[in-house]
Amino acid sequence: MASVQAPVSDSVIQAIRSQFPNLSSSTIFFENAGGSLMPRVVADAMRDYMVTRFVQLGATYKESIEATQTVADAHAWINTLMGGDGAGKTILGASASQLCRMLADCYLDIMEPGDEVIVCEAGHEANVNPWVRLERFGIKPVMWRIDPESMRCRIEDLERLLSDSTRVVAFPQVSNLLGEVVDVAEVTRVAQAAGARVVVDGVAYAPHRLMEAAEWGADWYVYSCYKVFGPHMGAMFGRDEAIEELTGHNHFFIPKDAFPSKFELGGVSHEGCAGLLAIGEYLKFVLEQIGESVPNGRIDRAGIEKAMNFLATLELPLQERLADFLAAHPRVRVIGPEATDESRVATISFVHESLLSTSIADAVAAEGIGIRAGHMYSYRLCQALGIDTSQGVARASMAHYNTVEEVDRLIEVLERIL
Ligand SMILES: Cc1ncc(COP(=O)(O)O)c(C=O)c1O
Repeated sequence: MASVQAPVSDSVIQAIRSQFPNLSSSTIFFENAGGSLMPRVVADAMRDYMVTRFVQLGATYKESIEATQTVADAHAWINTLMGGDGAGKTILGASASQLCRMLADCYLDIMEPGDEVIVCEAGHEANVNPWVRLERFGIKPVMWRIDPESMRCRIEDLERLLSDSTRVVAFPQVSNLLGEVVDVAEVTRVAQAAGARVVVDGVAYAPHRLMEAAEWGADWYVYSCYKVFGPHMGAMFGRDEAIEELTGHNHFFIPKDAFPSKFELGGVSHEGCAGLLAIGEYLKFVLEQIGESVPNGRIDRAGIEKAMNFLATLELPLQERLADFLAAHPRVRVIGPEATDESRVATISFVHESLLSTSIADAVAAEGIGIRAGHMYSYRLCQALGIDTSQGVARASMAHYNTVEEVDRLIEVLERIL
């Protein structure tokens, strides 16, 4: 993972934190799996767009030309951020949920009754329900169940479910409760060998590690931009062949080769696109803090790799500390592997033997720390693991801008409460 070894001095961490205006609050934010904080440069870019070129796209006057370019550039930049260049392109939308639903609707056009779609029990409902609901059109949903013991979805089980009828396999790269990183390349290889397309939910992975959509071979890869330092939008990479096979769900007169508009009903947030572009500025700032030069002042894929790998190294000590504490606690059950290393991300869920998850989150909030309780839309996963869905889990999720001191403060509070 980490090709850059972080010379992480406190001043680097403080410089990074200074980019996030929300961090001037006294609240400690450990709800990053719900949504990350936004760097100032991103918020400023959105405001700047709105007060200078908030106009319609596609016309021939100056501001419209600039606005059109901003939206096109954002698509290209996010494709690079996802590691999709050379293999496919990016669609933007309101959210990952909206994009998965859109995609399933598009696949319905080329499916026949009796075709099957495999969905994963560990998945967030965003990439489950859109496929399961195709049942009303004669498509058969097949559940790739989790092994409750290991809390993993086993590749052998997937192999048994695949058949000539399987058209799509939809699965998460990281469950937003379990936190473990699934081998996307391996699942993709197995699913594609059976002739299926894969739809990978990278939402819980993307804030923490480098996305490599093309390298992994994914046909479709989706993430939520607002969880990766951006505005409330979603982004979906599609491999060229997969894009071409679909007509899209836009109006009848939008041609099949009109990309991305065939998939972007009503367009996307233009100011959001300006914000997405500014994430590059933030990553550039990160690189400068560790003495890495940015050729031509614009961050490229190599720069993205270095920056994301560096940010990942900042998270490891945080997750190690909290995971160790929770794993050792006699009254706590960690939901997900007890790993503390790179095999997981800094999203850690647990339940207590007697305290309600909501009571834990409330008690922690009263101490000025934001964590979250609930099923987090991984409802089927909670059911499979015997977790009361009305309570779900307590989940603390960290990002690179959190500090060891903040984690220690959470541990101190949890020690008292638990
Ligand atoms: C793993 C995972 N997938 C999908 C989603 C849905 O993302 P969005 O809010 O962009 O629809 C979430 C949201 O929390 C998530 O955690």
